Amino acid sequence: FFRTEIPEGLRPLPGPKPLPIIGNVLEVGSRPYLSLTAMSKRYGDVFQIQIGMRPVVVLSGSETVRQALIKQGDEFAGRPDLYSFQFINDGKSLAFSTDQAGVWRARRKLAYSALRSFATLEGTTPEYSCMLEEHVCKEGEYLITQLQKVMKADGSFDPFRHIVVSVANVICGMCFGRRYDHDHEELVSLVYLSNEFGQVVGSGNPADFIPILRFLPSSTMKKFLDINDRFNTFVQKIVTDHYSTFDKDNIRDITDSLIDHCEDRKLDENSNIQMSDEKVVGIVNDLFGAGFDTISTALSWSVMYLVAYPEMQERLYQEMVDNVGLDRTPVLTDKPKLPLLEAFILETMRHSSFLPFTIPHCTSKDTSLNGYFIPKDTCVFINQWQINHDPELWKDPSTFNPERFLSPDGTEVNKLEGEKMMVFGMGKRRCIGEVIARHELFLFLAILVQKLKFLPIPGEPLDMTPEYGLTMKHKPCHLRATMRSRDEQ
Ligand code: HEM
Repeated sequence: FFRTEIPEGLRPLPGPKPLPIIGNVLEVGSRPYLSLTAMSKRYGDVFQIQIGMRPVVVLSGSETVRQALIKQGDEFAGRPDLYSFQFINDGKSLAFSTDQAGVWRARRKLAYSALRSFATLEGTTPEYSCMLEEHVCKEGEYLITQLQKVMKADGSFDPFRHIVVSVANVICGMCFGRRYDHDHEELVSLVYLSNEFGQVVGSGNPADFIPILRFLPSSTMKKFLDINDRFNTFVQKIVTDHYSTFDKDNIRDITDSLIDHCEDRKLDENSNIQMSDEKVVGIVNDLFGAGFDTISTALSWSVMYLVAYPEMQERLYQEMVDNVGLDRTPVLTDKPKLPLLEAFILETMRHSSFLPFTIPHCTSKDTSLNGYFIPKDTCVFINQWQINHDPELWKDPSTFNPERFLSPDGTEVNKLEGEKMMVFGMGKRRCIGEVIARHELFLFLAILVQKLKFLPIPGEPLDMTPEYGLTMKHKPCHLRATMRSRDEQ
C-alpha cells in the first residue's frame, strides 16, 4: 500500500490509530452509530478509521454532510465495491451496485418515474384520491382485522410480523399488481427475515473489509446469501409471469412499465442502449426491497413509541376524534388537520434514527472536505444518527418529545425543524421513495391510532434498544391491542 501524496494546502485526515490487520474494528464495535458519534466529538466532522486494511472516511455534522452530498455532490455520489453488495439483486442493484454514473443516473430516473406514476395513478373508485391511498387504506383495514384475530387467538402479537406483510402488500400492489395473505408462507418468511439482510449490509460489517473473514463459517452470511437467493427467485417468478402475459395496451403495474420501456428502446433506432433488459426490469427488485423494509421498520417503531408513551397515544387519539372523527377512515388530505401525528412521526424517525447511516458512499475522484484530502475510491460513511442527536442542533436530543416539531401554539408542524432531521439521505443519492414513505407512514399510523389502542404485556418491560443494521429493528416483542370504542371520546 502506497501512501497517497497529499496536495499542498490540504491536511491529512485525523482519526484513531489503526491496529495491524484489523484496523479500528474493535473501537467501532457492534454499535457503530454510537462509537462513531463519540469519535466525531474527538476528531471532528471529517475523520478516518480503518476497517481491516481499508480506510473509511466518516462524515458527521449537518453542514459538513450538506457540503459533501449537495455542494460537492458528484464527487461523493459513488458506491464502494463492498463484498456483500455483489450478492444483492445478482450484483445489479440500483441502490448498492457500482454502476457507472451515467447508467446509475438513467436507472434512477426510470425507477423514480415508474414509482411516481403508479403511486399517483387514480384509485379504482372515486373514494380514493390515488392508488397509494387505496392500497394503504385497504391494507390498513386488513391489518386491524388481522391484529384482532391474533389477539383473540393468542392474546398478544409481534407488531413487526404483521405490519411488514401489510406494508409489503402496498409495494407489491404497485410493483406486481397483487397482494398476499398474512399467512402466505413464501412472502412472510421473505419479509420477516429482512433484519438478516440489514445486519450484513449495515455500515461497518467487518466481512466487507477483511477478506479472510469471508472464508470463515458465518451463519449470518449464510442467511444473507439464502435470503438474497430467495428474494431474487421470488421476484423472478413474478417477472417471468409478467413477460408471458404482457400487453402493451394494458400496463398493469411497475413491472409492466419497465418491460414496456425495454420494448420501446428496441424500436427506437436512436436510443443509446447501455443497459441490458435485466438491468431495467431488475429495478423492480430494488423498489420492492426498499419499499417494504424501511416503512415497516418505521411503522413498527412508531407502535413501540405509542406503547412507551401512553399519554402521547391518548393525545393522538383525541386529535383524531376532534379533527377527523370516527365515522370515516382517515385519508391523505387529513394531514394538515393532524399536526401532532405528523410531529410524532418526525420524532419517531429522529429519536430512533432507525437508518443510522446512509448506504455507504464512495468518492469518484480525489477531493477535499473541510481542508482534508480524500483520495478517489475512498469508502465514506454518513452518520445520520449523529446529526439527529447533535446537541448543537437539538435541545435534549435523547428525550422523545414530538412537540419539538410543532409551532408554539401546536396547530402546525414546524417545517424548518423537520428539515433539520436526516433519515432519507441528501443530494444525488437521496431516497427516491421519500414522498411515498411519508404518505404511507402517515396514513397507516392514522388508521391504527383511530381504531386501536396499543398496550404492553403486564410485567414485560419494553426493550427499546435497537439491533444494529442498515435499518435498525427493535427486538422481537409482544404487545396487546384493544379496539377503541366510541365511549372513549
Ligand atoms: C435510498 C431512507 C423508503 C427506495 C435510501 C437511502 C436512505 C433511504 C437513507 C440512502 C441514501 C444514500 O445512500 O445517501 C429511506 C427511509 C424510508 C425509505 C427512511 C422510509 C421511511 C423508501 C421507499 C422506496 C425507497 C418506500 C421505494 C419504494 C430507495 C432507493 C434508494 C434509496 C431505490 C437508492 C437510491 C440510489 O442509490 O440512488 N433510502 N427510504 N426508499 N431508497 Fe429509500
